Amino acid sequence: MKFFAFLLFSGFIANLTAQDLFDKEINKLIDPSSKPFCFGVASGDPQQNSVVIWTKVLNDSDQTVAVNWEIATDSAMKNVVAGNEFRTSFSSAYTVKLQVKNLQPATTYFYRFETGNIFSPIGRTKTAPLKSNQLRFAVVSCNNFEHGYFNAYHLLANRNDIDAVIHLGDYIYEYGANKNKKHKSVRQHIPEHEILNLQDYRSRYAQYRLDKDLQEAHRLHPFINVWDDHEFANDAYKEGAKNQQADEGDWNTRKATAKKVYFEWIPIVDNAEESVIRKISYGSLADVFMIDTRVEERCKQVGPYDTLLQCTTRTILGAKQTAWLTQGVEHSVARWKVIANQVVFSELDAHQLTKKSRINADAWDGYPEERKELFDSFYANNTRNIIIVTGDIHLAWAFDLVLNPTNKNKYDRKTGKGVIGAEYVVPSVTSNGLGERIPRGLAKIVELILKRKSTNPHLQFQNLVDHGYMLLDLNNERANATWYFCKTVRKRTEKFSDKDSWSTKWNENRLVKEK
Ligand SMILES: [Fe+2]
Repeated sequence: MKFFAFLLFSGFIANLTAQDLFDKEINKLIDPSSKPFCFGVASGDPQQNSVVIWTKVLNDSDQTVAVNWEIATDSAMKNVVAGNEFRTSFSSAYTVKLQVKNLQPATTYFYRFETGNIFSPIGRTKTAPLKSNQLRFAVVSCNNFEHGYFNAYHLLANRNDIDAVIHLGDYIYEYGANKNKKHKSVRQHIPEHEILNLQDYRSRYAQYRLDKDLQEAHRLHPFINVWDDHEFANDAYKEGAKNQQADEGDWNTRKATAKKVYFEWIPIVDNAEESVIRKISYGSLADVFMIDTRVEERCKQVGPYDTLLQCTTRTILGAKQTAWLTQGVEHSVARWKVIANQVVFSELDAHQLTKKSRINADAWDGYPEERKELFDSFYANNTRNIIIVTGDIHLAWAFDLVLNPTNKNKYDRKTGKGVIGAEYVVPSVTSNGLGERIPRGLAKIVELILKRKSTNPHLQFQNLVDHGYMLLDLNNERANATWYFCKTVRKRTEKFSDKDSWSTKWNENRLVKEK
């Protein structure tokens, strides 16, 4: 860690006090009656015998704060099974985060916090099962606060049938407030400038977590998070980002700051490496592999025609993570191997739309050799039943998971030859996509061009314009994805416009549309 970063993290710089943890505009958003637990409660990383519980206290002094926590099997908090005191301080911005152990598998728990005789709201969470016949994950990504209301989170909060919410990143956006009067945002970012330093990142998370819909979704479901680029800066990679300008300071300092704040706010297991790479076991039915295609080892992106594209030393996961993932998938005895991934994994040829950017080089299409390495490993070990869930791109797609989709000797859509699973791409919760850029009718034409058999025969389902969330239902026979699309994100509403549903059968793997 650089000395400057150390000073920032230690809170010794500029005589910071607890009142300075956040931008002053944040204070205006806080309902005094919700203090000190104004950011709500959350849980995450459910394992078969443990779960992380989280809150944050708003503290007016700079003193260490003692917070009591307890976890029970009933919503009235009568049958308490564990509890203790947790001391939190300025250095973590008064975060309370702990992993509660020795819990029972497949059990719903309730938890709360207390300090100064004030109790937090009661949270609900659920541990992973040892064995089960049915799992249901909600899968989300990309909730830009400025681009809309978090209606998807409101609807998820109202569901009682979800085992966990998998968040694929872009949990916050680093951009400053949109000042474009022609294309006004629904809400405005705090602070107004692009976030760069510790107070900036903390303030941005604070603003997002004061959103009642996101807060309620966290209170009622465990989350399993990974980051994408915007938790750092747009199009991030290991050594930099597209949105990291020369006058914005040192990238490694910014990256370290963004990581620290992510771990302060997200109910993820703390670890010395500050890594999001981990496996969450859901017993006999699923192993969930959380991967990092962004800041762990990713090489800088190159253009869509760059000769470096085929270079075998270019990496998106890095050798260590690649080995961890391929071996983990190979040795998994779970029915389904779920990979929680950020950028689109499947090949997508867009040259008939635009020759200039025939591929999305920020996605796995920009790292084809490493993708081939993964496919080669899966094919060599006869591994099937892989479900990749993907965010980042702000639209919904379903692909047959296949290495050479246009090679008729390697892939047969009708028989499922060559298919080893499915990739389900989830829409953004709010972040602008094609729907904000072109009319709906034109988007339908884009869909028709993209799904031509000569270019993308493995692309089975598309919705390029709507926002929402996806449910991933797993049982012994099939892995089903159902996309729920919001009527609008320009205002708060419970209305949904549509849903679509596709499945892949166990060991058969080609995608089939559900009625
Ligand atoms: Fe995004």
